[in-house]
Amino acid sequence: MIASQTSVTTLALAAAVRAPSPFNTQPWHFDVAGDRIELRLDRARVLEVADPDAREARLACGAALCNVRIQLRALDRVGLVDLMPNRDDPDLLAVVRIAGERIAGERPATDSERKLADAISKRHTNRHPFLDRPVSASARATLASAARAEGARLVFVDASERYDLLVDLIRKAEQRLDTNEAYRQEVRYWLGGPVDRHDGVPIDAIGPEPVDDQLVRLRSFYRTNPLPARRFEQQPLLVAVVTAGTSPRYDVIAGAGMQRALLAACSLGLSASFLSQPFEVPDIRDEVTRAFASDGHVHTLLRIGYGYPVGVTPRRSVGEVTSTATNGHGA
Ligand SMILES: Cc1cc2nc3c(=O)[nH]c(=O)nc-3n(C[C@H](O)[C@H](O)[C@H](O)COP(=O)(O)O)c2cc1C
Repeated sequence: MIASQTSVTTLALAAAVRAPSPFNTQPWHFDVAGDRIELRLDRARVLEVADPDAREARLACGAALCNVRIQLRALDRVGLVDLMPNRDDPDLLAVVRIAGERIAGERPATDSERKLADAISKRHTNRHPFLDRPVSASARATLASAARAEGARLVFVDASERYDLLVDLIRKAEQRLDTNEAYRQEVRYWLGGPVDRHDGVPIDAIGPEPVDDQLVRLRSFYRTNPLPARRFEQQPLLVAVVTAGTSPRYDVIAGAGMQRALLAACSLGLSASFLSQPFEVPDIRDEVTRAFASDGHVHTLLRIGYGYPVGVTPRRSVGEVTSTATNGHGA
């Protein structure tokens, strides 16, 4: 069955909004005109304290862009992307043109592309304990090639001097954030809320307390899920997302690489969570940057391993985040 342009666009946008974002802020807006989707950073949803430069927000938008392209492939379409096309409009992060029924020479979606598309609604941040089971070399290779397909690179960090340094920087960052009342207020604002809230992190998405001192500290949300304390894995695999350079454009590329790797992880039965605290304290971020200087520019850190399924978090609807042009010349 051939899908209409409107339903293709709607399906692509429904995939976009499933992207992860810091505190589930969903900092994106889409302007749709005919076969064009413009992706904009929504400044009103950038975290003022944790992310004043909108770095993490652009990573989230890069993830949304990746979902759009993957969903279009699963519909046998192609999203032709122009990244940050207007110097004078830096919040216009990308323009996607949905190419025809099948552009000349283009092949139908492969099984692995369809699997990635299936993973869009199955991927969830997992803040629960993982098994003490190593991630195999072949799984790592699959994740690495997923990130590469978007122009980013993964660096896997196992037990090493660099691992110890990262563990230490995550702890230090968590302690520094903890003393910042404005940050604590920001966390409180984005946490919990009424059951019909369409953004923010629901209490039941937070993991249990660790029974002992966890090696790698997940972010504290200052409220706990009323679950019994659990033992966490002793040495989770840490994965850094890096790019060749540093700029807002590279933030979007890193976000897309991160997302494709997360989708590949999900389709391999792997779980993931984020460790962004060290990026949210400027001098600690400088230390993390130096720790990866020989690899490129580091954008984010993930914890990847084998976990048990977790629940879905809410999203604003496609209608809430989209403006549609009625004259065909943009919204
Ligand atoms: C750039 C970025 C940074 C994030 N940092 C953290 C973090 O430090 N700690 C955390 O628990 N979750 C973090 N998250 C995960 C979000 O809270 C999560 O994506 C959001 O609540 C939506 O839930 P979902 O990923 O299950 O769909 C981050 C997500 C993104 C995209």
